[in-house]
Amino acid sequence: MILLAVPYAATPQIGRDLAGELAGKVLLDAGNPRPERDGPMAEEARELGAGLASQRFLPGVRLVRAFNAISAHNLRNQAHRSGEKLAIPLAGDDEAALEVAARLVTDAGFDPVIVGPLATAKRFDFASGISARMPTARELREILGL
Ligand SMILES: NC(=O)c1ccc[n+]([C@@H]2O[C@H](COP(=O)([O-])OP(=O)(O)OC[C@H]3O[C@@H](n4cnc5c(N)ncnc54)[C@H](OP(=O)(O)O)[C@@H]3O)[C@@H](O)[C@H]2O)c1
Repeated sequence: MILLAVPYAATPQIGRDLAGELAGKVLLDAGNPRPERDGPMAEEARELGAGLASQRFLPGVRLVRAFNAISAHNLRNQAHRSGEKLAIPLAGDDEAALEVAARLVTDAGFDPVIVGPLATAKRFDFASGISARMPTARELREILGL
């Protein structure tokens, strides 16, 4: 399993350079397209939604959007907290990859919420503001009407 956490503008190059190494692997994509950092490609990715955009950049990869809707600070400080855990929304087209990702999220001390296929990742893209709201799984399901 691979966790991809790079400035979003690097994603296409990584997809090209590492196509052989990445093919068929489960890849958790935490990157967020941010036009102020990544330039015009991020505008296009945001419009499409990062799930579908990343899959175009990383063909042949078993892609799961994961860990993009939580800050690094909260990832470090809120893991395994007592009471209801913070939610980590997940989206992917590969059911088995989603299951593995969900187990990993649980092991990391958070509550996985499978939102749907990659196209639904747009619902928890950076622009959705979900990261800032820091929802529990119950709250996230309410917000997204799941
Ligand atoms: N930070 C957060 O709170 C947070 C939360 C959710 C999602 N994200 C998203 O996660 C991604 C990473 O964020 P970050 O804060 O970790 O950013 P970062 O510190 O700027 O970048 C992470 C790593 O990306 C590598 N990198 C940069 N350009 C590269 C390239 N052209 N090819 C390969 N690797 C490259 C760098 O490796 P080297 O050090 O070896 O150059 C760096 O260690 C971003 O898309 C961000 O939007 C961040």
